[in-house]
Amino acid sequence: MKFNRLLCGVASIVGLMAATANAETVKIGVVLTYSGGAAELGEQIDRGMNLFIDQNKDAFGGNEIELIKRDSKHPGGDIAKTAVQELITREKVDLLAGFIFSPNAMASAPVINQAKVPMIIMNAGTAWIPSLSPYIARVSFTMWQSGYPMGEYAAKDLGCKTAAVGFTDYPPGKDSRDAFSTGFEKFGGKIVESLPMGGPREVPDFTPFFQRVKNAKPDCFYIFVPAGNHAVSVVKTFTSLGMDEAGIKLIGPGDITQDTKLQEMPKEAAGMITMHHYSADYKTPANIAFVKAWKAAYGDDTIPDFMGVAGYDGMAAIAHAITAQNGKITADGTMKALAGWTFDSPRGKISIDPETRDIIQDENVHKVVWKDGRLGIEVIGTIPQVKDPCKANAIGKCAE
Ligand code: PHB
Repeated sequence: MKFNRLLCGVASIVGLMAATANAETVKIGVVLTYSGGAAELGEQIDRGMNLFIDQNKDAFGGNEIELIKRDSKHPGGDIAKTAVQELITREKVDLLAGFIFSPNAMASAPVINQAKVPMIIMNAGTAWIPSLSPYIARVSFTMWQSGYPMGEYAAKDLGCKTAAVGFTDYPPGKDSRDAFSTGFEKFGGKIVESLPMGGPREVPDFTPFFQRVKNAKPDCFYIFVPAGNHAVSVVKTFTSLGMDEAGIKLIGPGDITQDTKLQEMPKEAAGMITMHHYSADYKTPANIAFVKAWKAAYGDDTIPDFMGVAGYDGMAAIAHAITAQNGKITADGTMKALAGWTFDSPRGKISIDPETRDIIQDENVHKVVWKDGRLGIEVIGTIPQVKDPCKANAIGKCAE
């Protein structure tokens, strides 16, 4: 049967190999934002998953997979939770995957926990989400993985003595704020402003927040906004207020320099420094091959970003778990298979920490450069194999 790439809510069976006598069909519930302002994010993860499937038909141990897709629409949590309930009770899925926004993963966690259906998180980055259930594993990132080392880098390498923090006011934003502030203050920096800047659904007018920061004259301005349209507006506002000329450095996690949004930003984005685990511009052979395959599959004018790579790697993790259990999925068997799983991802080596069920990966210092008529990412430093610093340092809810 042909794999259905477009329609949501339609189950599609992927015939992966000539079916063997004891082949199983594994049902995977996929919950992503397929419509509304964040539809591009869902499309990235969807495409990443499909690319892995297309390239690795023999990685599923001869079993078939059925993807049952649901649209979580917005970051509120309610639609995702209802979808998860329905996928578990009516569709009887073996596994759940996806989850762009933290509130969607958080609202669904008690449901998957009670039903013992494993959940593979392909984006939602609030550090403490995996503590909500032993059946959650994450293949994306944590907000602390980027924010905490960015704090250290800003204090030690960028020479910032003072910083302002601006964040989208919901769990990953608060997490990113805490991560940066903790790292920055640990290495002698002083936070002079900490500003919640609206919610994740609508892009706010950033001008009043940025004007306040400009008046406070910090050396660095650290910003977390969710990937998508918010970041373009951040850079435009920063530029139009002349904050660069005022001597303020714009920094943040790589969410604000997402590959698929860079070309919409003004040229003045060049010089921004962010901390992250993936860019389509990485020059490693694995990533060059990945980007080439992506363009061949989806068009020359498309590129993957950190969400696309998470979909790809997440499907690799699922393939591993299915093969390890001969297609007979249990929650405990899945978590056992994922504990310590390692993979040569386009982003570099990744693994799942057996203790926290969270990803371990390199964090790279990204410098935005203007080169060959486009904005791009240059890697100017690497912090190898970062474990989530929130759990490593048992901070706040990460200690529970
Ligand atoms: C989240 O809601 O956890 C989230 C969304 C977008 C990002 C990062 C985190 O870029």
